Amino acid sequence: MSFKQLLVAVSAALLTKSAVIEKRATCATGQTTANAACCAWFPVLEDIQQNMFAGGQCNAEAHEALRLVFHDGIAVSPAMEARGQFGGGGADGSIMLFDEIETAFHPNIGLDDVVALEKPFVAKHGVSPADFIPFAGAVAVSNCAGAPEMQFFIGRKIATQAAPDGLVPEPFHTVDQILERTNDAGQFDELETVWMLSAHSIAASNDVDPTVVGLPFDSTPEQFDGQFFLDTQLRGVLFPGSGGNQGEVESAVAGEIRLQSDHNFARDSRTACEWQSFVNNQTKLQADFQFIFTAIATLGQDMDSLIDCSDVIPAPKPQNFGPTRFPPGKSNADIEQACAATPFPTLATAPGPATSVARINPPFKVSH
Ligand code: HEM
Ligand SMILES: *[C@@H]1O[C@H](CO)[C@@H](O)[C@H](O)[C@H]1NC(C)=O
Repeated sequence: MSFKQLLVAVSAALLTKSAVIEKRATCATGQTTANAACCAWFPVLEDIQQNMFAGGQCNAEAHEALRLVFHDGIAVSPAMEARGQFGGGGADGSIMLFDEIETAFHPNIGLDDVVALEKPFVAKHGVSPADFIPFAGAVAVSNCAGAPEMQFFIGRKIATQAAPDGLVPEPFHTVDQILERTNDAGQFDELETVWMLSAHSIAASNDVDPTVVGLPFDSTPEQFDGQFFLDTQLRGVLFPGSGGNQGEVESAVAGEIRLQSDHNFARDSRTACEWQSFVNNQTKLQADFQFIFTAIATLGQDMDSLIDCSDVIPAPKPQNFGPTRFPPGKSNADIEQACAATPFPTLATAPGPATSVARINPPFKVSH
């Protein structure tokens, strides 16, 4: 079975896991899980929910924990290996084990903070950094309303050296450059690359633009929803301070930041229809992100040697929102239609005056 076929099988099994898997191990702390090796993670869960995620919130720390999973995992290049160079180990914890090297790479700007935040939990619980990064990311996503059921595996090979620079996408890269990179890293295609970018539904920018912090990518950064895909499809407007930095373009909603790469993915003929499909299809959004998160979180690893500890991850916070709506004052007339095959869905507009989206406050800083 190829890596991706195996993942599909795993995902399908998980969707029915409560019905199928008979829980076998009872942990000393009282919980039951399919595998006794997973017991060690329940105390870690309790600790990070209280002390990283403020009692299970989809907060700034949760957003950064998810970003860290991507920046550790994507740093693997079979193409470099084929040229006889070391291509990085993927989801191997290298970004934490060799943080002084990797957090100095340009695309990893700001990740020194979340690495510093996570390290004490790794030390305190004596768990693997390679497994902890995806664990914290999966728990983080589960704290966001509307999230899919997140998967978690343990047993990753741990990094023995830092990943090379140049493997993490930048917001000023072209669609071609980003697709080439994701294809190299995990044989991901253009649709799967769109699935990944759903992460920006629960995201803000703290570092790329030094003049602003905590600017969300959509108007609902605490919800895992289709709003990001709608907001990025709106015609950009010039706001004071917006669009001034490399890799940043004008956003449509005051207080939001828009990455040039997200803007371009929303408009490229190869990706625009997939982008649009996520505007108001929560079921598809959840299924595709569940799959792609696990794929990113296991890059460079052999799935067959990992143990499934998904039953340690809490059930996602329930969806407490209705269908995606245009932000106040916006309508279909403001859409920059890019998908040629299907018209943009007809949606309601949120009531009220067009106000600025709130910053994610306080932006956390632990190391400087
Ligand atoms: C593939 C192209 C991608 C590019 C060019 C990109 C770029 C960026 C940039 C520039 C930021 C802002 C960082 C800052 O100023 O603090 C950001 C934030 C973020 N990214 Fe991405 N990203 C990509 C894919 C992904 C993927 C695949 C994930 C996860 C699966 C992800 C998760 C996040 C999250 C959660 C944040 C918000 C962090 C926070 O709120 O503190 N990104 N991304
Ligand atoms: C949502 O996506 C699924 C999977 O592609 C599709 O079968 C379904 O028709 C879509 N639903 C809507 C309302 O578009």
